[in-house]
Amino acid sequence: MKQGKVDALLGIVFGDEGKGKVVDVFTPRYDVVARFAGGPNAGHTIIFGGKKFVLRSIPSGIFDEGKLNMIGNGCVIAPDLFMAEAKELEAAGYDLRSRLHISTRAHLILPTHRVLDRAYEAAKGKNAVGTTGKGIGPTYSEKASRTGLRVGDILDRFPEKYAALKARHERILSDLDYTDYDISQEEKLWMEGVEYMRQFQLTDTATELNRLLDQGKNVLAEGAQGTMLDIDHGTYPFVSSSSTTTGGVCTGLGIAPTRIGEVFGIFKAYSTRVGAGPFPVELFDETGDRLREIGHEYGAVTGRNRRCGWVDLVALRYAIMINGVTQLIMMKSDVLDGFQTIRACVAYEKDGVRTTDMPFDTEGWQAVYQDLPGWSEDLSAMTSEAEFPQAFRDYVDFLEKELHTPITILSVGPDRAQTICRKG
Ligand code: IMP
Repeated sequence: MKQGKVDALLGIVFGDEGKGKVVDVFTPRYDVVARFAGGPNAGHTIIFGGKKFVLRSIPSGIFDEGKLNMIGNGCVIAPDLFMAEAKELEAAGYDLRSRLHISTRAHLILPTHRVLDRAYEAAKGKNAVGTTGKGIGPTYSEKASRTGLRVGDILDRFPEKYAALKARHERILSDLDYTDYDISQEEKLWMEGVEYMRQFQLTDTATELNRLLDQGKNVLAEGAQGTMLDIDHGTYPFVSSSSTTTGGVCTGLGIAPTRIGEVFGIFKAYSTRVGAGPFPVELFDETGDRLREIGHEYGAVTGRNRRCGWVDLVALRYAIMINGVTQLIMMKSDVLDGFQTIRACVAYEKDGVRTTDMPFDTEGWQAVYQDLPGWSEDLSAMTSEAEFPQAFRDYVDFLEKELHTPITILSVGPDRAQTICRKG
């Protein structure tokens, strides 16, 4: 029997590219949708049946009744937040118990991990990362230092393991002189979340997934965050703590590289970043404000203003290389409607040195732009490529040539119908 493949759908810049919408459009093609990295720091917004859902830990395939969804071993999970998210979906009529499998190897985010997240940020002062405060960094740190708790731990002697880890966290917090916190309410809800999670299928998702692939089933690996937030390849130390790239798909799901099929790299027609860290294309003027306003660029998890700028080809080329992107998906093309000139960052410059490669540290590098003519037409009303204005076609052609990768899907609005497939 023909083996199935794992296609990856990855944010390739700073996240918030609109993966949720695309997974929703893609889901009919797959048997399984799996999350391989990150946790409730993600916020995948999906408008389904006229209702808006923000998925944090649960894969976006959950809205499609026939599909299996998995939270892989590379993810971190907060039982209280998971419970809130899952209950909302169950209340809306979606069956989760039989269609959502959670890896016993995924790590647990404890309430004290969230306190540690705040404490570490406070200790960093002006060098704070601007995290989402969900305890992501401390949880992945403990995974690496081999002191963490995993989902499978809730099935055996959990109270004593929990108490030991909590005591360890309390000691660290006391050493940091960070003692002004009260998690009693949060902890109660968290324990309820643990009980609630026990009702789900907690399994070895890696073995299950490989068996399904052997049976010819196809899998969509749903990314979280983006390549520039990857722990190895992002703008360290202003990154998240997981592997957000194609490599992370393999480790975070337990599948071999030979299982990978297409790698869809998703980006916006312009750039955004939320949180601290260098961002060479950032615009501090009214153009940046206009992109934020029109693009509704406010964080799905934290509500923070997103920093906005023109598209960054240095970052995109790097991400395409790291991930082996085979097809690009450009989101929010319509946000650029009405700009007389569109700019694209083609290189970075610092102290008279110009580069098209990603520097070790992008701090202090200035964007070098190429200007392209804009268009005045309303892309969001268009339903086929034939309707596109010439200037927009030229922008797309320019990006494809610069990036040596086809753009096979163009999104021109938030609705599922505003998705134009070009080729592939
Ligand atoms: P953490 O993942 O909460 O530790 O945050 C680390 C950095 O990644 C911060 O700059 C966050 O703003 C950013 N970040 C984390 N998750 C997302 C996301 O889903 N979209 C965009 N930025 C994110």
